[in-house]
Amino acid sequence: MSLWRTQRRCTAGLCCLLLALCSWISAFNLDTTTVLIKEGEEGSFFGFSLALHQQLTPEPHSWILVGAPQARGIGALWSSRPGALYRCPVTPEKCERVDIDGHESKDNQWLGVTVKSQGIGGKVVTCAHLYELRQHVNQTFETRDPIGRCYVLSEDLTERDDLDGGEWKFCEGRSQGHEQFGFCQQGLSASFTPDKNYILFGAPGTYNWKGLLFMASPIEDALVYKTLEPSKSSFEDVAQNSYLGFSVDSARGIMSKSELTFVAGAPRANHKGAVVLLRKDNVYRLMPEHILWGEELASSFGYSVAVADLNSDGWTDLVVGAPNFFDRKAEIGGAVYVYLNPASHWEKARPIRLNGTYDSMFGMTVSSAGDLDWDGYEDIAVGAPFDGDGKVFIYRGCSSGIDTKPSQVLDGLNAGVKRLGYSISGGLDVDGNFYPDLAIGSLTLAMCILSLSSVEVKACYTYTAYPDSYSPHITLGVHFEADIERRKLSLPHRVHFLGRSLSEPEYVHSVEVELRGQKHPDCKTVTFVVQVEQSFIHACMHSVMSEHKCSQKMHLRCIASFLSTSQVNFVREGCGEDKICQSNLQLSYQFGTKAPISNAFIPLPRDESDVPVFSLSDQRSVVLEVTVTNMPSDPENPQEDGDDAHATQLLVSLPNTLSYSGLMGQQVYLCLINQNGSQALCELGNPLKREATVKFYLVLSTSGITIETTSLSVHLALSTISEQPALAPVTAYARMVIELPLVLSGLARPHQLFFSGAVRGESAMTSLQDIGSAVDYEFIVSNAGQSLQTFGSASLNILWPYELINRKWLLYPSALQVDGQPPTNCEPQSEINPLQLSLQLFLPVDKIRNSFLLIRAHMWNSTFIEEFSSVSAVELLVRANITIKSNIKHLVLKDAATQVSVMIYPEHGLSDQHSIPWWIILIAVLAGIIVLALLVCLLWKVSVHLHPLNNAQLQLQPSDVERKQATELH
Ligand SMILES: *[C@@H]1O[C@H](CO)[C@@H](O)[C@H](O)[C@H]1NC(C)=O
Ligand SMILES: *[C@@H]1O[C@H](CO)[C@@H](O)[C@H](O)[C@H]1NC(C)=O
Ligand SMILES: *[C@@H]1O[C@H](CO)[C@@H](O)[C@H](O)[C@H]1NC(C)=O
Repeated sequence: MSLWRTQRRCTAGLCCLLLALCSWISAFNLDTTTVLIKEGEEGSFFGFSLALHQQLTPEPHSWILVGAPQARGIGALWSSRPGALYRCPVTPEKCERVDIDGHESKDNQWLGVTVKSQGIGGKVVTCAHLYELRQHVNQTFETRDPIGRCYVLSEDLTERDDLDGGEWKFCEGRSQGHEQFGFCQQGLSASFTPDKNYILFGAPGTYNWKGLLFMASPIEDALVYKTLEPSKSSFEDVAQNSYLGFSVDSARGIMSKSELTFVAGAPRANHKGAVVLLRKDNVYRLMPEHILWGEELASSFGYSVAVADLNSDGWTDLVVGAPNFFDRKAEIGGAVYVYLNPASHWEKARPIRLNGTYDSMFGMTVSSAGDLDWDGYEDIAVGAPFDGDGKVFIYRGCSSGIDTKPSQVLDGLNAGVKRLGYSISGGLDVDGNFYPDLAIGSLTLAMCILSLSSVEVKACYTYTAYPDSYSPHITLGVHFEADIERRKLSLPHRVHFLGRSLSEPEYVHSVEVELRGQKHPDCKTVTFVVQVEQSFIHACMHSVMSEHKCSQKMHLRCIASFLSTSQVNFVREGCGEDKICQSNLQLSYQFGTKAPISNAFIPLPRDESDVPVFSLSDQRSVVLEVTVTNMPSDPENPQEDGDDAHATQLLVSLPNTLSYSGLMGQQVYLCLINQNGSQALCELGNPLKREATVKFYLVLSTSGITIETTSLSVHLALSTISEQPALAPVTAYARMVIELPLVLSGLARPHQLFFSGAVRGESAMTSLQDIGSAVDYEFIVSNAGQSLQTFGSASLNILWPYELINRKWLLYPSALQVDGQPPTNCEPQSEINPLQLSLQLFLPVDKIRNSFLLIRAHMWNSTFIEEFSSVSAVELLVRANITIKSNIKHLVLKDAATQVSVMIYPEHGLSDQHSIPWWIILIAVLAGIIVLALLVCLLWKVSVHLHPLNNAQLQLQPSDVERKQATELH
């Protein structure tokens, strides 16, 4: 019913631990706070008899069957009192009358004087012992014989087969008269045999009240066994006026272990009373085998009988009520004799007498109650309906037979009922809590069903470990959970733990056990109650509170306990010969990114000092590859360490700039994430085996990164309960740079030039045309990203082949235009058209995209003629790059440099004159030859706003022109 799960929570590595658990389960008595009360009509004797019953078909249902032998007739027969049988559900609903024999008038027949159930899914019998057989009605010789009759019903209390119904009247058709069968009163007692093959009927009025026992089969017709007729012969069981059959029961294990023995009370036999033990023979007789005689005159020994194996020795014991037992001196009124079965040697039997109080009718009813407390011994209940307001005493069976002190007394006074204890039925679990329930009845229209109750479980823990010196403080989390199997089947749970924390479901109770070292036990006690359907409980509570029928004041005593011990062995496998698990967990990591389509892991590039560098442009995540191995550190000596690492976990702690977003790829590792995603606890294996390698990829969101973020560091802490003292946490580190997605491109128009003509001095030049052919250099700075909100200033630097080292002009810059506007912000200003030669028409450039710089230049024909007329070609390079001046040190530029080349050739005539056409001079690379002018154009000047880069994207501040265009568009 309850499952024990232990969970170890000690952090120290531990090699060999033996945890011993002892638990005691103590059950209390019948729980008098959960009683169900059913009331019948005043004066109907509702509760004179009762039986717990359970049907299985057509649908499962539990009933309390209640006889009301003085119940009124239905409808027109209201003034008569035929008696009735009621079935009462184990829920608050009202009892309903079982329709037994229609609307025949059978006034005063006492239908319901007995009711018995064959058990779960079995038949039911109820009788009317004063049923009259009327013959020659309205004639002078009319006869009325109270032969009695019984009704057998199928499990659902209907007549389903031929043998069901009221034809169970064995005295009909037999000789009439009180000395024969005329006053049979069959059914004053009735009982099913435990083998389910027979029903026993007592007919105590037969043969001049000698009494008779009939036995017949509810499944097979025609077989009727009887006790002996009166005879003049020597052997007789009991004499006339004995009332044999006043009570009846049967069991195996009375006279022999295998055969059934029938027990019939004859309370007036020999004026003291007797109990006859009978067996059936093969000619349909019930033969007496032994007679137990009462000890006191008129004590009514045998008024009630019950069978139960009280001491659990396999022999059925007998319980006999003698409610009229009287001892004036000792003030005893009513007694119950308990005969422990002397292994069928009944002649040796010496009864134990339980005494009732004066005039209490103690023993008017005796009943087996089943094993109420589950201690393995059957228990009994004894009714004493005239003891105060009526009492029912519960006696526990035990190894020595019976505990003569009642374990519990159910008092009618507390229940507000009079004459409690007229009837008792037990041994059947009707509320589904596995404990047998008990129904008790009174004459005064009320009855209670009492169901068990709260159970205490005491669990004690202790541990032993190797070595002995190893004795840490261990906190055990102990988790009690009940009804697991039921809940798996989606059935409601029935166990409710008391005193659990509110966050726990009713069927769970968690406690902590502190073990302060080896062999220091600690115990915890938890209590649970077993309950039926909620409606039942509510009904009972309601009844108790509003009607005060059953009191909650009855004291409960602890009456039984079970002890069970189990050991949990924590000796781990895979720990080598020394049985000490010494693991060698090693962790390595690698930062990387996810390839856009394949999702493959791409490690980050590393800088000159081998630190991985994460360049943030537009990626939304960074991936951390974590590899954990558990290899022996010394391959020469593999037993040293590398043992299984038990309960290996990795705790990943992330900085504010990163948050956990998942695992990449098909991962089997389970990571638990805290609420804000700053920590992930990943289970890497229990154990992580020797020589295992675990590799997995944590995807970390970069959405928390700001412009100030210069590094990423992730704290990785491995833990295991195996032994590895030097298991230090690792910090995964990567440098972070913010990449400005600026692209610089340049081109020259035309990209081929020619020189010719005559050498002219500088002073002879008046206009730019005098210098040589014009060439336009265009530089475009484009922004691949979306927006760049913040950085300092960016400059476009151009390395210009201005003159040769001998100060001869090479490429003469004549005009400059930025974004189509007149040049304003390039320096040195003087370097543009330094000779102040007159400017000709300069076409403005349309459709400027991004930032745009145009430099008009003229190649200096004279220099080329003088210096390079002997070569076939000269390549002239102009280089440019962008630099950034910013407080943010980790901004980087990519593709921020370019070079533009122009090929310069001598005109045909020139090159023909000089015939060395095989080499090309590359200018601008040869720094010693050419003086390069540095032309720096300040592209943008932007104020610095430190915004977090929410979308982790950088954008260029739009140039003035773009801004103007944007405004115009709006
Ligand atoms: C007998 O007589 C009574 C009254 O005289 C009558 O109500 C009843 O029906 C009669 N019974 C039979 C069986 O004739
Ligand atoms: C009942 O009373 C008798 C004497 O009257 C005594 O011997 C016997 O022990 C009593 N039974 C119990 C259970 O006390
Ligand atoms: C410079 O050379 C080009 C190409 O040969 C020629 O067209 C141009 O007239 C020359 N300019 C001067 C001023 O000599």
